[in-house]
Amino acid sequence: SAYDAGEHESYMRKEILEQPTTAQAVLRGRLDERFGTAHLGGLDMDARDLRAVRRVKILGCGSAYYVGQMGAALIEELARIPADAEAASEFRYRNPVIEPDTLYVAVSQSGETIDTLLAVQEVRRKGGRCVGLVNVVGSAIARECDGGIYLHAGPEVAVASTKALTNMFLAFALLALQLGRVRDLSIADGKRLVAGLERLPGQIEEVLAGEADLVEVAHSLAEAESLFFIGRVRGFPVAREGAQKFKEISYRHAEAYQTSELKHGPLALIDPAVPTVALVPQDELTERNIGALHEIAARSGPLVVVTHEDVGLGGIDARRVVVPRNEPELDPILLTIPLQLLAYHAAQHLGHDIDKPRNLAKSVTVE
Ligand code: AGP
Repeated sequence: SAYDAGEHESYMRKEILEQPTTAQAVLRGRLDERFGTAHLGGLDMDARDLRAVRRVKILGCGSAYYVGQMGAALIEELARIPADAEAASEFRYRNPVIEPDTLYVAVSQSGETIDTLLAVQEVRRKGGRCVGLVNVVGSAIARECDGGIYLHAGPEVAVASTKALTNMFLAFALLALQLGRVRDLSIADGKRLVAGLERLPGQIEEVLAGEADLVEVAHSLAEAESLFFIGRVRGFPVAREGAQKFKEISYRHAEAYQTSELKHGPLALIDPAVPTVALVPQDELTERNIGALHEIAARSGPLVVVTHEDVGLGGIDARRVVVPRNEPELDPILLTIPLQLLAYHAAQHLGHDIDKPRNLAKSVTVE
């Protein structure tokens, strides 16, 4: 066929490795270095429409929902518009209030996920404006939306989504920039983020080049019956996505938690048999995150820490996985890449069918 796994042992691996290229594709022609903004013609919204947005509500399922949470944080941070993400599968069942000055954003790789499609229809029936972040051109969700941003990730075959999610994050960054620059985001900050986005594909490549160092860590995680993924604020949706990927293909129980919430309950589960993958970027929460790592280490919980070069772990016994630094707002995507590789190599070690995990379909088109 025109698209196959070629020399790769699975589509998932091929799709992970394609990310430096596919990430470029979603950014291409959309960044404006001069004015530190993005141009998203497909949104079909002029500056006045963008300025009229008072709230952003993101709708997606599974990993698209988790990336939606990353997107909501970006929009709130850069554009200072209240934003949140919700599981599209729940949305229509709670008779949601649809507001005319809210921008609804549907996120989907396939564009065919029934729960997301029905959420879009609910928004539009009640008079709301819904734009789409969709990979498959001409898909049902793309057609149902008022406009949108195509993800240009190319065909994604593996059930466990990787390159499409990366491009969802990048599309949210573009949207946040454009919303920000017609509001309060300064030109200096806009330019800083445009430059950061331009650096990202190369940095994704750097993370992928470190794959060999992750294999043994992944194998040790695969041996555990149960594990935690923890992060705070920007890092929490990353933890949710990391746990999701691990569950889908390794069939291990992986639970995501806010690092700050550990002491309010789940710390009781930590022991030498329960590893934790902790996201500890260099940011305003680093010291607090390290405090939580001490709590885990004191209970002999094995630790894998995804972090930046210059973060010192204060003598804690942990496997370090280092990702390059970019602008802090863009950290989530570089933190996500090693988690894809950890899930991949764990599943590989366990001998699972990586592209077609049990009980799951690539897109869920019936309720
Ligand atoms: C991702 O690894 C999952 N297989 C799944 O959660 C997926 O993201 C979800 O079903 C949404 O699919 P979509 O992006 O095609 O709408």
